[in-house]
Amino acid sequence: MAAAGVRTAHSEVVDSPAIIDEALDRFGPTWVVKDDGLAAGKGVVVTTDRDAARDHAAEIIENGHPVLLESFLDGPEVSLFCLVDGETVVPLLPAQDHKRVGDGDVGPNTGGMGAYTPLPWLPEGAVEQIVDEVVKPVAAELVRRGCGFSGLLYAGLAMGEEGPAVVEFNCRFGDPETQAVLALLESPLGEVLGAVANGTLAQLPPLQWRDGAAVTVVLAAEYYPASPRTGDVISGATATMSSMPVRSAGMTARSCRPEVVC
Ligand code: GLY
Repeated sequence: MAAAGVRTAHSEVVDSPAIIDEALDRFGPTWVVKDDGLAAGKGVVVTTDRDAARDHAAEIIENGHPVLLESFLDGPEVSLFCLVDGETVVPLLPAQDHKRVGDGDVGPNTGGMGAYTPLPWLPEGAVEQIVDEVVKPVAAELVRRGCGFSGLLYAGLAMGEEGPAVVEFNCRFGDPETQAVLALLESPLGEVLGAVANGTLAQLPPLQWRDGAAVTVVLAAEYYPASPRTGDVISGATATMSSMPVRSAGMTARSCRPEVVC
């Protein structure tokens, strides 16, 4: 990102309990403490509580992973999924993901508890700005390095006063934003993905979108994300809730109405 001139957080790797405190002094509040290893979307703690930040960092190191401390990026978050084929970039609709487990944006961070699209509050031209200032420069930098990317680049961004800054990149669709975004896609998904795979994305006609908005609500097991209780029966799903991802493989969702998707 630095080579591509893309705004992102300042970061430091901490791999010993002895230096956690001095490293925390250089950041926060607010502290952003990340598990620098696979953590199933649950490795990030964003907190103004120094003890909570310290405890999370110590636990990560105890589990054998380095800790990534990052400066806090202010501004509302946006997820923008982009089809990328070398230097060709085609954005999907922007979405917003809500990551705290509880209603009212409280509790631990999760992989995402709900998402919606489009974003009526996003200024006009913001998607083009993200494409021009973030995704295209990164795609071009990868091509320049001889490892051009072909696929779906998920840019997680904070829309700060200075413009979009990258919180995260993933080379996959995001959950739960995808359920909302694809619900509004009218162009055939197979053709769209086929164009990426065949290297013909530049020739793809503009994507067609349905009018309106789409929302995903995640139904999670009690005590998710720390230690989800398994075996509970889901009740109360109505016919209008036609696509509810359930974030616990152990939940007894199949005993519910068939429209609940596990
Ligand atoms: N929505 C967060 C993720 O898919 O990583």
